[in-house]
Amino acid sequence: MLFFPVRINHDARIAPAQVRRKIHNPFQFSLQEKNAIKIFYLRSILFIYLDTLLTQCYEDSPMPRNKSKTLYQRARKKIPGGVNSPVRAWQSVGGTPAFIARGKRAYLFDTEGRKYIDFVASWGPLILGHAHPKIVQQIKKTAARGTTFGAPTEGEVELAELVCRLVPSIEAVRLVSSGTEATMSAVRLARACTGRTKIIKFDGCYHGHADGLLVKAGSGIAALGLPDSPGVPPGFARETLVARFNDPASLEGLFDRHGKNIAAVIVEPVCGNMGVIPPAPGFLDAMRKVAHAYGALLIYDEVITGFRVALGGAQQLYKLQPDLTCLGKILGGGLSLAAFGGRREIMNLLAPEGPVYQAGTLSGNPIAVAAGLAVLRLLSRRGTYSALEDLGRKMEEGYRAVLRQYGIHGTVNRVGSMMTIFFGVDRVQSAADARRGDCAQFARYFHGMLRRGVYWPPSQFEAAFVSLSHLEKDIAKTLQAFSAWAREERRR
Ligand SMILES: Cc1ncc(COP(=O)(O)O)c(C=O)c1O
Repeated sequence: MLFFPVRINHDARIAPAQVRRKIHNPFQFSLQEKNAIKIFYLRSILFIYLDTLLTQCYEDSPMPRNKSKTLYQRARKKIPGGVNSPVRAWQSVGGTPAFIARGKRAYLFDTEGRKYIDFVASWGPLILGHAHPKIVQQIKKTAARGTTFGAPTEGEVELAELVCRLVPSIEAVRLVSSGTEATMSAVRLARACTGRTKIIKFDGCYHGHADGLLVKAGSGIAALGLPDSPGVPPGFARETLVARFNDPASLEGLFDRHGKNIAAVIVEPVCGNMGVIPPAPGFLDAMRKVAHAYGALLIYDEVITGFRVALGGAQQLYKLQPDLTCLGKILGGGLSLAAFGGRREIMNLLAPEGPVYQAGTLSGNPIAVAAGLAVLRLLSRRGTYSALEDLGRKMEEGYRAVLRQYGIHGTVNRVGSMMTIFFGVDRVQSAADARRGDCAQFARYFHGMLRRGVYWPPSQFEAAFVSLSHLEKDIAKTLQAFSAWAREERRR
């Protein structure tokens, strides 16, 4: 039951004076005393009733977020679906999305002033939490000198040098404004480099919304390359073949049939977009070998994992080098910045050095570059990734303990500070496994956590992120909230 600001007076010792007064015969009261007793008990009943009502408001129905509701109604009149990126609409969990007023460290504050412990981290970029003073300072300082020039700047050179040093498979890099641009451009480059047209992606991996990459297909039609979105010409989609993650045989099968036409394999080396799914031992190595055996390039989409699972990304963690790498999210410190890079002879095909066209008005924007440089420098400090691993491990162990304690069927996948909880399944190694999860239970989990002040990604098929701004007490509160939700869930 919720704390209600007016204390309920159950205790006779703190009852009104008339009630407390010693009376010879305790069963005999004056009229005045009887009235005082009536008022006292009526007040108590009213308080209990109001308290119960309020508790139900919080625990059984979506929270009354009136300002968010009004804003959402206004937004839906002018913005398709009321949001500028679909997952923000909470369609898979239901309810009105919380409109956010501000963020500080690990916390988000909605338009009603409610505070949440944030595990969305703007879908990954905010590895240092919200409004880190050093990043804010760099942004302000840089903006005061001019926001964009459409001409090269010293910051871009510094960032390119730093990226190449931190991710050694990248010998040359180009800055762009979004992860979508990075993957789209890397694929164009791979096609130009090999003179082939087809690419292979994995079911459940997301690489932004460029036409040829918006293909995931279901299990039965995995290799047919049907477009996932109207507006993607079937001809484009046919150039994209779909293999199953963690299933080297499905990849080899595609190479057997289409090998001489395949320009590249693109993969999230640790999946984040079907929930977190780590690569099975040997899978990434098998992928590299088969791709290279057929003369195709290997593209690691490290838009999420870059600077997240290790300073040098998943390729450092698993000790493998792709031909091309896509970066984003953390790279821009919360501003619009992404990049693709790799072997010099491939990158030198880009205009103006080579014939492959790629460009952007705001590419390498000075403010985003300054924020990116500040983040990467802070992340380069000793102890960063062991601290993240420590926080992530505490979350995973705590979640597993609660699942066991309350007998809730589910599992937790985690790599470093990326984590997903799946319900109704024992093991998740592929998109098909993830789809077998209980999304209705996930929606209850999401709202249960939100009511208890924890902002988790509003979809089963996303990663939750721990950041360096999460304190031990935030983890403890989150585990308490999960435990309270699990208790409630078991009673259903
Ligand atoms: C792995 C991956 N690649 C590419 C993208 C696309 O990035 P952006 O949203 O910046 O276009 C995303 C976005 O979530 C992603 O998770």
